[in-house]
Amino acid sequence: MILSNCSGLSLALHQAMQKDNFRRLLRTVEALSDLGPAMTTERDFPQTARAMLSALQQAAGAREVVLFGYSDKPSLLSSVAADGFALMPDPAIIPLLPKHVHGLVSARGPILPAQGSHDTYLSSNGNVAPELFKCLAPLKVGGKLVGVVALGAAQAESGYDAGELEALDLLCHYVALALHNHSLTQTLAQRVSDNLRLMASLHGFYDSTLEAFAAAIDVKHVNIHGHSLRVGRYSAGIGEAMSLETGEIAALRSAGYLHDIGKVAVDKRLFGKTTSLDAEEFREMADHTVVGHKIVTGVEFPWPRIPEIVRWHHERADGSGYPDGLGLEDVPMPVRIVGLADTFDAMISARPYREPMSLGAALSELVRLTPSKFDPNAVHGLLLQIRRDTVGSNRSRFLEGHLADHIAASDVDQLAATLQHKMTKGRLFLT
Ligand SMILES: [Fe+2]
Repeated sequence: MILSNCSGLSLALHQAMQKDNFRRLLRTVEALSDLGPAMTTERDFPQTARAMLSALQQAAGAREVVLFGYSDKPSLLSSVAADGFALMPDPAIIPLLPKHVHGLVSARGPILPAQGSHDTYLSSNGNVAPELFKCLAPLKVGGKLVGVVALGAAQAESGYDAGELEALDLLCHYVALALHNHSLTQTLAQRVSDNLRLMASLHGFYDSTLEAFAAAIDVKHVNIHGHSLRVGRYSAGIGEAMSLETGEIAALRSAGYLHDIGKVAVDKRLFGKTTSLDAEEFREMADHTVVGHKIVTGVEFPWPRIPEIVRWHHERADGSGYPDGLGLEDVPMPVRIVGLADTFDAMISARPYREPMSLGAALSELVRLTPSKFDPNAVHGLLLQIRRDTVGSNRSRFLEGHLADHIAASDVDQLAATLQHKMTKGRLFLT
């Protein structure tokens, strides 16, 4: 009888415990199912953190809860979200010493710090008293501390029981991952934005410095004023029409600015000559490519192709150019683009020995000289930009002033068709 009473009692107790555990399990599952969508949707993190807080409150039976993120440089906890505390600074900051980090990392599951033992886990140098927290659940990913869930007063008078701590422990794995993902995303975003800023400041610096360089190169003679700046702009425009990447376009602009840097060493008198250059003078002029190459080699630019563009922008597809007599396949696309932009600008600009060519005549001549001298894709890019100018679809004009008014879109189309015809040798392709 006693035995049966005992076993009846133990059964009832067992059932009660099971029921209690079941309820707790149910509560945790509910909390997790609430948390799941919050963690996986593209919501902003404060919203996710609030959802996590309420799940933690429910599962652990806490009235007060705060979620801390951990950063190791400097080593501190800073609150991400808090609920229930009457006075909780926003953010609450708790600096950690190595012994605190060690205490938190070595804990297996949630900690109930005894009176006077808070110093094992938290310093009192922050803006919140560690004694406020009755329970600390370290958040770890891959053995590394990523944050802490700290509970204040419990809903139950008796404080937190084992079942609640178990539920808390279970949830903390998910909270740790969510927090870690968030800080990874934030670090990545921060890095990308830092790099962008650095690039922008670098490009800004180079752009303005190189513009000044370009102006200095062209100061030699009134006939070449603005030439390098225009070649930089045309090269970037052609690159853009060819759908090159932003970095390549920036490189083209800078290379265009600098392509004639070797001209600083050429006798100024040669630029004003109204007759053609003799052999010796031509050699001196042609040497600006080699001199320029010497100048820029060894200067650390963010774009590695600048020295070869400076050296080879007078090379031609059929090998008739200088200084190295290279063919089309021997020079990279950026060199071909700057070479084309350079020739195009020279054609439509006045020279002491000739009048400027009209836009239509210059383009016809370039198409005629393609592919023997120029790259067809680059010439096509040039035509595309000019066509956009003629129909007004360029955000900022490719050509200076109203130069594009001297040609009709249909003329450009005609030139593009001629170019296409030359490239396919009149064959028709059905696509
Ligand atoms: Fe040149």
